[in-house]
Amino acid sequence: MTGNVSAPARTQVAIVGAGPAGLLLSHLLNLAGIESVVLESRSRADVEATLRAGVLEQGTVDLLIESGVGERMLLEGSLHHGIEFRFGGRGHRIPLSELTDGRAIMLYAQHEVIKDLIHARLAAGGTIVFDARNVTIHDFDSAKPRIRFEHDERVHELRSDFIAGCDGYHGVCRPSVPPAARQEFARAYPFGWFGILVNARPYSPELIYAYHERGFSLVSTRSHEVQRLYFQCDPHDSVDNWPDERIWAELAARLETDDGWELKQGPIFQKGIIAMRSFVLEPMQFGTLFLAGDAAHIVPPTGAKGLNLAVADVRVLSDAFIEYYATGRRDGLEHYSATALERVWAAEHFSWWMTSMLHRYDDRDPFQQRLQFAQLNQVASSHAFQTALAENYVGLPIRRRALAEKLKRRSGAKTRREFGAGIA
Ligand code: FAD
Ligand code: DHB
Repeated sequence: MTGNVSAPARTQVAIVGAGPAGLLLSHLLNLAGIESVVLESRSRADVEATLRAGVLEQGTVDLLIESGVGERMLLEGSLHHGIEFRFGGRGHRIPLSELTDGRAIMLYAQHEVIKDLIHARLAAGGTIVFDARNVTIHDFDSAKPRIRFEHDERVHELRSDFIAGCDGYHGVCRPSVPPAARQEFARAYPFGWFGILVNARPYSPELIYAYHERGFSLVSTRSHEVQRLYFQCDPHDSVDNWPDERIWAELAARLETDDGWELKQGPIFQKGIIAMRSFVLEPMQFGTLFLAGDAAHIVPPTGAKGLNLAVADVRVLSDAFIEYYATGRRDGLEHYSATALERVWAAEHFSWWMTSMLHRYDDRDPFQQRLQFAQLNQVASSHAFQTALAENYVGLPIRRRALAEKLKRRSGAKTRREFGAGIA
């Protein structure tokens, strides 16, 4: 058992999945004195090495700092105040901070956030069970849910007041909800993203989202030494079809500008193809099971909303648990799904809109392509369009439970057991 010695047989909130959603939930609950156990099917090394997101919204950044896990992000991350849209051989800057009262985004890799959260949970004596196999959830239509799992060649059972399903899109929690009690909304896209990591200096001071008749591309960054680039591809293509020279030629063609912008090549040390889909589960709650993050919804990556949505869900859900354990009131828990879904659908719309505007649709007619150009031109020239884009990009507000916020403030960071004691 990694983390702390052995999992207890009972906890207040049992959390499935040690991704950003599960770990952050466990961390926030701990700050309010609420016990949790996190069950994760993979090893700690695997979890800490999974390369995914890189853009943190202002609200995500604020929450990590307020809750005491932002120190390394502030040292190593890089704050961006704008992004570039590039099409027709020209760049158009969207001044995010100017348009949103000074809000910004932070470039800091998801696996670094994960490392910071795991470190904080273990330092605070929290239990994370890595390599938990064959996790199954039971009796979550009652007040006594149970989780069974295998670990160290033994079968374990964990009882709790609630289960938080934070186990991502391929997890076990969502499919465990009876089909009659859930509705799913989905959209597939006829393209994917080819992503690479390169040893090179930053290509640009701000992210570049580029539309080109050959397809979309994106210039992002991870650090002064490591850059992240993506380009639209066939989702069924294979990495083997893309030797480095072909990748560089494709990116150079898609990112070229009339004034001769140059893309310096560097050693590529990671390649991968990402599928793109939109998906929403309604509701995000069933009995004593609450779903958060990718377990409940997926967005296509254009606009960088996935991780940030997981964080927003967890903020709403932790408020609801804090309110419940402090007062016995279930209002926050009962409203969790409706509150979270309002923001989820706004992000679904934004991600779909960004994707539709910036990608090449092979099966679309010239009429459709002209519409995309019209949209891009409006974003490049209209203050109103830019403001709407910037507000969504830096992150829409999260609806908080006023009571839970007050309780949290009163408790002060790191006071344990003040509100949870005696209720379990
Ligand atoms: P996950 O990160 O998927 O974590 C779920 C965890 O549950 C995993 O550790 C998994 O091993 C575990 N698990 C699964 N099944 C079980 C089981 N049966 N039992 C126990 N444990 C289980 N989002 C952004 O906001 N900004 C970006 O810039 C961005 N870029 C992205 C780039 C790429 C290439 C990709 C793929 C995604 C990107 N995203 C981005 C999306 C973001 O990475 C996800 O939305 C985010 O990881 C969701 O977090 P989560 O905790 O809900 O789920
Ligand atoms: C990154 C990913 C995104 O989906 C995006 O819109 C911007 C940046 C990234 O991985 O850096």
